[in-house]
Amino acid sequence: MSLIKWSDTFSVKIQSIDEQHRKLFNMINDLNNAIKENNEKEKIGIILKDLISYTKSHFVFEENMMIKHDYHGYKWHKTIHDDLIFEVSKIVKRFDEGQDIVAKELLNFLLKWLVEHIGGVDKQYSPIFSHKEK
Ligand SMILES: [Fe+2]
Ligand SMILES: [Fe+2]
Repeated sequence: MSLIKWSDTFSVKIQSIDEQHRKLFNMINDLNNAIKENNEKEKIGIILKDLISYTKSHFVFEENMMIKHDYHGYKWHKTIHDDLIFEVSKIVKRFDEGQDIVAKELLNFLLKWLVEHIGGVDKQYSPIFSHKEK
């Protein structure tokens, strides 16, 4: 079952980025399913860490695109990315220490964050890069 569904309202009109955002949505749905099915902590941990490492590489991809085009909002956008990674790392540390509730907390945090970030912050570079990037 899908917790979150992709729709065109999330599109930033850059195919490579839309694909990465879609993949993030899929990974969030996978994490949700793993939690719901009560999978072992180890399995949830693997999905969770994959999701975080993919998020990090997605951020780097976006940041490189901003640097390439000398985007005026780069510093602001990067700070927001860095803050997310910082917050997520704190939650993951608690997960590793054995707090079961944490996976669900992290799921909700990422879900809310990604939807707001893609729909709000990422959308702002869309009109600037959409005719320059694929
Ligand atoms: Fe993004
Ligand atoms: Fe972003």
